[in-house]
Amino acid sequence: MLNDRLPFSQACENNKQPILKVLKEYISDQESLLEIAGGTGQHGEFFARSFPNLLWQTSDLPGSVADLNLRISEANLHNLPPALILDVNDSNWNVKKYQLLFTANSLHIMSEKSVENFFSRIPNVLQQSALVFIYGPFKYDGNFTTKSNAEFDEWLKEKDLRSGVRDFEAISELAVSVGLSLVADVQMPSNNQLLVFSR
Ligand SMILES: C[S@@+](CC[C@H](N)C(=O)[O-])C[C@H]1O[C@@H](n2cnc3c(N)ncnc32)[C@H](O)[C@@H]1O
Repeated sequence: MLNDRLPFSQACENNKQPILKVLKEYISDQESLLEIAGGTGQHGEFFARSFPNLLWQTSDLPGSVADLNLRISEANLHNLPPALILDVNDSNWNVKKYQLLFTANSLHIMSEKSVENFFSRIPNVLQQSALVFIYGPFKYDGNFTTKSNAEFDEWLKEKDLRSGVRDFEAISELAVSVGLSLVADVQMPSNNQLLVFSR
C-alpha cells in the first residue's frame, strides 16, 4: 500500500484531533491558510479534510518538500495544493497574503535566529486581522512545564545545539514586536500549548 511508504509521525496522529478542536473555535469562513514546516503532511491532509472550504497551503524546507508532497499527492484534495518550498530564513517568502498561518512543532527545531526570522517575515504574508496558530512545547518564566519537556530539550540539543524548547515570553515578545497580540494560550495534551495570535 502506498500509505505505508508515506512519511509518518505518531505525534501528529495523537495531536491532530485536540488541535482540530481548538482550530474549530477560530476558523469559520476564512478561505486561506499558510502552514510553515508541514513535515509529513499529516496535519495538512487532516485539516484540509476538516475544513473543506479552507485552502491549506503547506510548505517546508527545500529538502523536505518532496516527502511532504507524497502525501499531498496521494490525498488529492481540491484544497490541499502541492507544498511550497519555504525556509523561514528566506528574506522574501514569495507567497501571497493569507488569512491564517499555522505551524506545529517547528520553533523548537529551528535556531533562535530562525525563530526571529520567522516572526519578522510574518507581517508580509498576513492579511489584516489574520490569526496565527503556533503549536508546541514552551517554557514559562524560564521553567519547563514538566520533567519530560526538560528531557526533550536535552534530547533536542544533543541532536543540534541550536534547537531547544522556546520561552513563551520570548515568543510573545517577538510576536508583539511584529504587530501580533496574544489571543489564547491553550494547554494541550502531552505538555504542549497552542498559542493563538491575531494581527
Ligand atoms: C519536528 S518537525 C514538525 C513537522 C510537522 N509540523 C509536525 O508537527 O509533525 C520540524 C519541521 O520544521 C521544519 N523546519 C526546520 N527548519 C526550518 C526552516 N528554517 N524553515 C522552515 N521549516 C523548517 C523541518 O523541515 C520539519 O518539517
